[in-house]
Amino acid sequence: MASARPRTYAEAREVSTTNFELAWWVFMRVSGLILVFLVFGHLWVNNILVDPADIDYAYVVNRLAQPGVRIYNTFLLFFAMLHGVNGLRYSIEDYTKRASRRFWYKVILYTVSAIIFVLGTMTLWAFTYEEMGAAVRAIGVTP
Ligand code: HEM
Repeated sequence: MASARPRTYAEAREVSTTNFELAWWVFMRVSGLILVFLVFGHLWVNNILVDPADIDYAYVVNRLAQPGVRIYNTFLLFFAMLHGVNGLRYSIEDYTKRASRRFWYKVILYTVSAIIFVLGTMTLWAFTYEEMGAAVRAIGVTP
């Protein structure tokens, strides 16, 4: 499907093997647009308004203590991961000829992505900052 490169929704409907693949085609266009704003907003705050050289543990704790930042970052994590993983899936489908290799590449991709997604979400939501501070001190890293 991906190698057919449809340009319009009507073309995508024709070449999509399933409704699920058509939904992914739509998702890639919508999430790509949303990511432009999310990523530039993120870079504006963390690279322009703030000098990256000043970013330390205290800065991150202070940022993530704000519910709005948590929600913003959850959207950033969600869209960046799904968009990136699905893009890699298209590349695997297009460039890997052997079916068994395609299968294993996708198993690795989905496993690594699921771990990153869970860790990212936990980092954003699961801990209080007292717990995070205690965990960091326990492994010997000075905040
Ligand atoms: C040099 C460029 C970048 C810098 C200096 C930077 C800096 C930071 C900082 C300080 C945080 C934690 C606090 C906060 O959100 O304000 C953070 C979190 C995050 N950044 Fe960036 N960032 C950069 C580029 C990017 C890009 C390009 C993406 C995605 C395409 C991204 C995605 C994220 C996500 C998803 C989180 C939340 C992490 C989590 O889930 O725990 N960042 N970044």
